[in-house]
Amino acid sequence: MDGTTYLSDYRPYPFTLSTVSLTFRLAPRATRVTARLALAPRAAGAPLHLDGEELKLISLALDGAALAPADYLLTETGLTIHPAALPEGPFTLETEVEIAPEANTALEGLYMSKGMYCTQCEAEGFRKITFYPDRPDVMARFHVRIEGEAPVLLSNGNPVGAGKGWAEWDDPWPKPAYLFALVAGELVATSGTFTTMSGRKADLNVWVRPGDEDRTDYALGAIQRSMKWDEEAFGREYDLDVFNLVAVDDFNMGAMENKGLNIFNSKLVLASPETATDLDYERIEGVIGHEYFHNWTGDRITCRDWFQLCLKEGLTVFRDQSFTSDMRLGAVKRIEDVIALRARQFREDAGPLAHPPRPDHYREINNFYTSTVYEKGAEVVRMLQTLLGPDGFRAAMDLYFERHDGQACTIEDWIKVFEDASGRDLGQFKRWYTDAGTPHLTVTETFENGTYTLEFTQDTKPTPGQAEKPPRLIPIAVGLIGPNGDEVVPTRVLEMTEARQSFAFEGLGAKPVPSILRGFSAPVVLERQTSPAEQAFLLANDTDPFNRWEAGRSLARETLIAMTTGAAPDVEYLDAVGGLIADESADPAFRALVLRLPTEDEIAQAIAASGKVADPDAIHAAREALMQALAARHEATLAATFDACALPGAYRPEAADAGRRSLRLACLALLGTLDGGARAAALFDSATNMTESLGALGLLVAQGKGEAALATFRARWQENALVMDKWFTTQLALCPPAEAADRAARLAEDPLFTWKNPNRFRALMGGLSANHAGFHRADGAGYRFYADWLIRLDPVNPQTAARMSTAFETRARYDAGRQAKIRAELERIAAVEGLSRDLSEMTARLLG
Ligand code: ARG
Ligand code: ZN
Repeated sequence: MDGTTYLSDYRPYPFTLSTVSLTFRLAPRATRVTARLALAPRAAGAPLHLDGEELKLISLALDGAALAPADYLLTETGLTIHPAALPEGPFTLETEVEIAPEANTALEGLYMSKGMYCTQCEAEGFRKITFYPDRPDVMARFHVRIEGEAPVLLSNGNPVGAGKGWAEWDDPWPKPAYLFALVAGELVATSGTFTTMSGRKADLNVWVRPGDEDRTDYALGAIQRSMKWDEEAFGREYDLDVFNLVAVDDFNMGAMENKGLNIFNSKLVLASPETATDLDYERIEGVIGHEYFHNWTGDRITCRDWFQLCLKEGLTVFRDQSFTSDMRLGAVKRIEDVIALRARQFREDAGPLAHPPRPDHYREINNFYTSTVYEKGAEVVRMLQTLLGPDGFRAAMDLYFERHDGQACTIEDWIKVFEDASGRDLGQFKRWYTDAGTPHLTVTETFENGTYTLEFTQDTKPTPGQAEKPPRLIPIAVGLIGPNGDEVVPTRVLEMTEARQSFAFEGLGAKPVPSILRGFSAPVVLERQTSPAEQAFLLANDTDPFNRWEAGRSLARETLIAMTTGAAPDVEYLDAVGGLIADESADPAFRALVLRLPTEDEIAQAIAASGKVADPDAIHAAREALMQALAARHEATLAATFDACALPGAYRPEAADAGRRSLRLACLALLGTLDGGARAAALFDSATNMTESLGALGLLVAQGKGEAALATFRARWQENALVMDKWFTTQLALCPPAEAADRAARLAEDPLFTWKNPNRFRALMGGLSANHAGFHRADGAGYRFYADWLIRLDPVNPQTAARMSTAFETRARYDAGRQAKIRAELERIAAVEGLSRDLSEMTARLLG
């Protein structure tokens, strides 16, 4: 074996495990963990293998009797007890191990963050806590006793006893070990309650470090809204007496759905108007929803193995997107989600890391918590909803919960539920789960004797390990608009199943303008030759808000691409946008989205997709020039809109207010190209909320006029880690590209660059890589700096180092010089002795 795990090698665990009793005696350098496992063989003769890493074995006993060294084998990865030493029937295995949470910098398993004990066990962290069958298909009931000095001692399930220096918890719901959690520390709670639809009362607590409790109200409200929404939208009720949520400052990911004890990166919990932006508020609500919704889609029904990750993640992202859509503006949320999908998932699909939502092999599963598994996984669920309709979808979901509650499932189980509920054969649809790559859809149209015909062709390029791409089932939502702007055919979902397929619309008086892929009904790239005039028409007239925005977006993209080779800005585009800025009938958030130009990364991706070489400097210049052209043409309207959107009164995070702030900042970004940053400077000085303060700061930085404001901001916020993360990111992402790499090097020397903290590391490195032309500086300075830091972080925190290496996944887009420089950096990383499995898998895939 080369250390690769294959889906096809799945075998059920040869033992059943009914209950687990754990005792923790906490100490930073020597925590003792005893585990009592109630096991029973499924069949005779199998050895008992328990996973375990970095554990010091203190004792090992079977049914109360110590095992002799000859009875078992202890390796770097676990403990195997010989079949001869095992009884034929049920037995109890008791182990005691010692671990050192303080030395755990990888932040996986039991570790310490600012004096507080916490855990992260998904995917395979529990094996760093005790010897255990650390696989999601082994589900057991956990009883946990914690002994420690900390005043707050938390674990999963319900509290069943506590005294000075100890607490006991019992989780009545069988669960896999990855959902285990423990927290101990000096914490304070903001508390509330929720009464479920059947009248059960649950106590809710948001736990934070003392001093942070003034930023917890929003999180508590978000838990309550999530609980209510899951009852209304999916009929799902909460199932424990208490729901605890803890904010932790050192965390590799966003958050974790441990049963009854969700653990969060503090950036996704703490919010006040002065410290959090509108986007932070929206994300906090969305991620709190996400983790809460996992209680059913993840915890009650989990995954059989880690290849099935998108079974819980894709579905739960779909659920949190629907939640946010209901809490805020649905049309705007959909556009934001598609922007994010294209920026991350389409980018992943177009490069060497492309993989299906359900991969079939991996070396390190942590490398597969990707946009493809999460966001594309959500799109696939959304297509099921489109195909079945809202009622059919709900009926299938009801069946899923009824049939699979308490089980560890597969994508096959999931598809079967949808087949049984709808009576349809979804065999072809399943390709969305097993095949990588983004289908490209081309379309031609004919109009003859009142019949309008759309002919589609689908094509997916080969991806690593998958040369052949058979056609998929693609739901294409289409509406037709008459020449006068009226909708003549309302939205219809065409089901494309062939490589090439035509759909006819009869009885039309005149040739219509088609609105294709409404609501982004499938995660595909639609390639359609249209005139700017037609796109401008759709931007003005489409009744589907997504496609209305999309028309403006593709106009902007095409204009920008033409400008990279010297064309002037397209006048049709400039005028179409002008019409919208002041259109009071359109929502401000929507108008802001139309005003915001595609990112440089998106433009680079589009250029590469058309087979050309992306030039980062030309792209940057084109985008700047288009902003200037828009501003010059619409200065008065922009200035009037900027003024009109000012909100008197106290900050409220509500979507309506956030939309106005967003439009205001979008106007400001354009106006800044004319007023030399005067308005931004004034806003920075007067802002009373972080949205406007940070927005203004970023615009000043982009103008090359940020130094004074950066110093003021730093002086004001140096004690607040989450705000300082923004300070690092904003100046790197938005500064003039030529200075980005040097600025990054300077910031890495700042005493506030506490690089072992994942948020801070991501703030700096992510800021640099977000500066497209800066990261891709032709002399390779950006690449070199970035690679140096990945090499430095890897031995400390391989998971985060590996994740950040995806900055290099777009190598193939650029010229030979840049490609060679990226390759050289990847080879340099790959050659590091003792490189982690995480990062070595990533570099191998990136090198192709
Ligand atoms: N299940 C968590 C979530 O999506 C993410 C955990 C990721 N952990 C990891 N080691 N990759 O909410
Ligand atoms: Zn999740």
